[in-house]
Amino acid sequence: MSRSAILPLAFALALAGGAAQAAGVKVTISCGSAGAEQPQCQQGAKAWAEKTGNTVEVVAAPQSTSDQLALYQQILNAQSGDIDVFQIDIIWPAIIGSHFIDLKPYVDQATIDQHFPSIIQGLTRNGQLLAMPWFTDAGLLYYRQDLLDKYKLKVPETWAELTEAAKTIQEGERQAGNDRFFGLVFQGRAYEGLTCNALEWIVGFGGGTIVGQDGKITVNNPQAAKALDTAASWIGTIAPDGVLNYMEEDARGVFQSGNAAFMRNWPYAYSLVNSADSPVKGKIATAPLPKGDGEGARHAATLGGWNLAVSKYSAHPKEAADLVLYLTGKEEQKRRAIDATFQTTIPALYEDPDVLKAQPFFAQLKGAFESAVARPSAITGERYNEVSTLFWNAVHNTLSKQGDGAANLAQLQKDLNRLSRGGRW
Ligand code: GLC
Repeated sequence: MSRSAILPLAFALALAGGAAQAAGVKVTISCGSAGAEQPQCQQGAKAWAEKTGNTVEVVAAPQSTSDQLALYQQILNAQSGDIDVFQIDIIWPAIIGSHFIDLKPYVDQATIDQHFPSIIQGLTRNGQLLAMPWFTDAGLLYYRQDLLDKYKLKVPETWAELTEAAKTIQEGERQAGNDRFFGLVFQGRAYEGLTCNALEWIVGFGGGTIVGQDGKITVNNPQAAKALDTAASWIGTIAPDGVLNYMEEDARGVFQSGNAAFMRNWPYAYSLVNSADSPVKGKIATAPLPKGDGEGARHAATLGGWNLAVSKYSAHPKEAADLVLYLTGKEEQKRRAIDATFQTTIPALYEDPDVLKAQPFFAQLKGAFESAVARPSAITGERYNEVSTLFWNAVHNTLSKQGDGAANLAQLQKDLNRLSRGGRW
């Protein structure tokens, strides 16, 4: 969505909300739009509006987090007050954090302490709390239990096992008449989602985290190259060529319609693929993503997650902060965990009997969060998006068979070196 598309809408809504001014103010929030994000955000925002007498308008952000960042940068750089509350990705505090107010004056320490300390730490810059955690994310392997049973296969532990299992199931299902069936779907488009997927492959093969915590560029190594070459071998074999243009919802669409054996996705997809009208309801389960082979191989899930921040240009920071605290609060996070499997940022909720009863798979998710791998956004700071763009392009080229992993990672190292002036981020 372009900025020109969003701003007139916000203006029109601001005018429409004028009549309610006497009773309260109007707050505009921009929420994500993958899966159930919009209806879930609307529901929470409406409850807050009813409780406080304010008006709230929900504006849909683009589905790709990379497009969302570009749009937010335009709005914030223009110091526009059209959006009061922004839903921000965990990798953005250093990139756009200077546009948000410090929430500390609005929130008590006990509320802050309810959340995972590492997330709070990531959202704190120069002593200022720039956002409150809303939900976290870690990559998961979704699989069709019914098909593993049918072909007498076990849940794959390694990518080699997954490749074999995917081939067996794909061949069998095609012979049985479904020629649109594929073994594996994931996020292969050239955007931030591919960075998340590829980090999992590379860490899974013991190939490091692109840039180390000390700022050293580590990505040009044989295990990382092997990880990318392995993923490239899936394209057009167990994964459709079209996966090179897939985001989260594209992968979910294929898996949910019954046309894939395995899918890499985030927890939000669980409630949708298992919903009453899903063709694969009751046939799916999740597991840790497979690991590679060789020294240092491990199961790896990329850490994601979303947070709510108040714009410095908001005319109503107090009400905007109140909306943020309501939406990120325990009650609302519990509701969203139960209704839509958004992974809560409040550790206590992983032991909540209502959550576990409604969504037993939450029992696995706390561990998934604790062992998840962060992208190198803290060390690369403001430059993270440029780092990630260079990385996802190198990966996308490899998947598209434009150069192999070794050649593309050697070039990436040069580009990252130049960008960082030799690792000085
Ligand atoms: C999920 C994650 C987010 C990540 C994005 C990539 O939304 O929560 O952190 O950047 O996926 O597509």
